[in-house]
Amino acid sequence: MLIHAIYNNNSQKLTKQTKQTKALSIKKIPFLKGEVVLLNIDSLAAGGAGVSRHKGFVVFTNFTCPGDSVLAKITNIKKNFAQAEIVSIKNPSDKRIVAKCPVFQKCGGCTWQHILYTEQLKQKKQILSSSLGKKISFKDEIIKDVIPSPKEWRYRNRIQLKIDKNFDYGFYEKKSHNIIKIKDCPIADSLLFKDLDKNIKNHTSLKKNYHNQVEVYISREKEIKYIISGNKQNKTNKPDKQNNKNKIDKKAFAQVNEWVNQILIKDILKYLKKHLLPKQTVYDLYCGHGNFSFPINKILNPYKTIGVELNLSSVQIAKKNALQNNIAGLDFIAKDVKSFLQQCKNINGPVILDPPRIGCDKAVIESLIKLKPPVILYISCNPQTLARDLEILIGDNNLYEPVLAQAYDMFPQTDHVESLIVLKLSPKDID
Ligand SMILES: C[S@@+](CC[C@H](N)C(=O)[O-])C[C@H]1O[C@@H](n2cnc3c(N)ncnc32)[C@H](O)[C@@H]1O
Repeated sequence: MLIHAIYNNNSQKLTKQTKQTKALSIKKIPFLKGEVVLLNIDSLAAGGAGVSRHKGFVVFTNFTCPGDSVLAKITNIKKNFAQAEIVSIKNPSDKRIVAKCPVFQKCGGCTWQHILYTEQLKQKKQILSSSLGKKISFKDEIIKDVIPSPKEWRYRNRIQLKIDKNFDYGFYEKKSHNIIKIKDCPIADSLLFKDLDKNIKNHTSLKKNYHNQVEVYISREKEIKYIISGNKQNKTNKPDKQNNKNKIDKKAFAQVNEWVNQILIKDILKYLKKHLLPKQTVYDLYCGHGNFSFPINKILNPYKTIGVELNLSSVQIAKKNALQNNIAGLDFIAKDVKSFLQQCKNINGPVILDPPRIGCDKAVIESLIKLKPPVILYISCNPQTLARDLEILIGDNNLYEPVLAQAYDMFPQTDHVESLIVLKLSPKDID
């Protein structure tokens, strides 16, 4: 908290000095591996673990809740922090609840089912704020309260299941390839489990080699579809002609929580509208199948909307959609964003960045620094890579000013944080 306050109220120079001072201070480790210690959990960290300080030394403990007092066994010690696992809960937090799912803590999915939903939202705001605070300066008031998911449960429209040789299916246990068998998942739409036993058997038994993975999803036409991917002997995603009722699509990215996706789209339109000038183009980089490009083109009607995406299937879906619906003004380019920007002579309008978890390639940020789009809307599902990219983009000369940091709860019951950051080009850098 203290470091965060220092970051927020001072210049980036101070941020760097603070890092150096931190590196010089040698921490005394107050316990041995295997020791059981009493921990009071203050907050939650990216990755989901509870954070506590034992004699000043930071300890991360999974499946704890802010306000808990726990006895925990130290499992791992690093230079600046340790990891522990719960032995027993001495005094449970008033924000602790009973998890819904029978395989919670076994399956590698949800990390926060044991935490009251309002507390999950509060912690996500804090995770976003402290990740950004470690890398950039910003005014406190730009960080807004997290927008909740209209559905806390049953929000996922797709799941990825592992299948064993007996056609049993489930999710991988965390950090292992053991399959935790399931018949339902409380964060997934129940429709995904309809006739699942039968359909998995149909799809997999028709092939010579058993398939070890199936992605089940609800399509935009509200049909249940299956993407089957095999073990090494069978990697094809070819449609199964013997069972064409449930078609198999090639894998293309799609948002998992359509309720929150719609809120995010509305907000993107709202912030773009504020900044979009006549005759400007909107650049939707990492556009997928045009989730943002289509509504931008339809509602804001910019001079042009250009979507850039590497995945060919996604671009094909987008182009087909534009063609079938006779939509003009939309251009989809199948390209790496890095080479698209390196070949760009100038950018005439706002840029949307929605990269995968790894964030943007450094060369992407370097091109943006040269091209200086007037406004950047960065949508991120990883506050750490977001903060890393923003530190480079903003740089020592404050090329961009962050004017909004808004998290959306795209993934309730988990520690994943989706956010939108709006950045305005500094007035001194407008040509
Ligand atoms: C988080 S998704 C966002 C997709 C889209 N904006 C949406 O809302 O559905 C990231 C997208 O970036 C694409 N991608 C990943 N690396 C890329 C690259 N180097 N250049 C262009 N697209 C890339 C992925 O295929 C994926 O569709």
